[in-house]
Amino acid sequence: MTISSLSSWEHGAQALALLKAALDRGYLDFLASPRTPAEVSEFAGHPAGDLLAAFEGHGIVVRDGEAYRLDQEVAAGLAADAPIGLAARIVRADLLARQVAEVVRTGTAPLTGDESLIVAQSVALQPGDPARAVVDKLHGAVPEVRDAIANGRMLDVGSGVGGYVLTALSLLPGMRATTLELVPEVAAVARQRAHDLGVADRADIRVMDARRFHAWDEFDAAFWAQPFFPEETRTEVLAMILRSLRPGGVLVLQQLDAEPAGGPERAAFTLARLVARSARLPFARPLADLVGEAEAAGFTLIRTLEIDLGRLALLRRPGVAG
Ligand SMILES: C[S@@+](CC[C@H](N)C(=O)[O-])C[C@H]1O[C@@H](n2cnc3c(N)ncnc32)[C@H](O)[C@@H]1O
Repeated sequence: MTISSLSSWEHGAQALALLKAALDRGYLDFLASPRTPAEVSEFAGHPAGDLLAAFEGHGIVVRDGEAYRLDQEVAAGLAADAPIGLAARIVRADLLARQVAEVVRTGTAPLTGDESLIVAQSVALQPGDPARAVVDKLHGAVPEVRDAIANGRMLDVGSGVGGYVLTALSLLPGMRATTLELVPEVAAVARQRAHDLGVADRADIRVMDARRFHAWDEFDAAFWAQPFFPEETRTEVLAMILRSLRPGGVLVLQQLDAEPAGGPERAAFTLARLVARSARLPFARPLADLVGEAEAAGFTLIRTLEIDLGRLALLRRPGVAG
């Protein structure tokens, strides 16, 4: 570690604090429209010249004549239908920083229900046309899944706020889904989103431990949000998915994070891994190992693929539908 790395971490921590406070205090909403320094000062309740300079210095706002407004990319990220919301990412970054400190102090950083919601929202597609385009593209890359669910049933295991599954339901009018989510605060948001999207009648949203779900040969496809399942749950969850799928039914797995070779990304990776592993999560487990886990549970590999949306494995429950 050098003094210059300390300076860059110091700056990073301060910049994140600036951004998070700007979000909390409503500046990011307020500056969506161009505002003069006088208007910003009135909003702040104190002279805001230095604050605007800090926002401008960090690319949060740009000058627009005499006024300031949100940078275009920031505004796009904050839009209600941005595929992954920037506000959720900012809140998650702040949470992760606090978790790092807690793990260093105590060895673990268990999440409250509201914190689980922060995590779920930070990785979920937000409802809207851009998200539909993302899921359409995903289905184009895995037509086996689209064909299985277009007029069939999907089991979404660890559904979070339903970023994928609710978007898929809104695209495929003949699809039905059952979703399993452990945390009530998270499932409540999925339920509200299903209602808002008009797909609630085709989404059976369950709040439960996926290991306790009992179904036999019923589902045509399953999606398992495996990065969020601790080691001690995985064998039972895979066994549950195997028996819930019909013979020939398809399972999709995704590798979410990958180990960088070096550089600053490597340092950041060690912190995210520290937090994830303190919760016994299989952080950045390589796709080949995920396939091995599923094969040990009785699945057969169809294929793996790497697309711009990530690394995916497609497996099936052996046998043919009777
Ligand atoms: C963050 S979500 C994944 C994102 C989601 N697939 C989407 O498209 O938005 C993963 C969820 O799995 C849930 N989870 C973890 N263990 C679980 C279990 N044993 N049973 C049910 N849900 C579980 C977590 O609470 C978390 O909300």
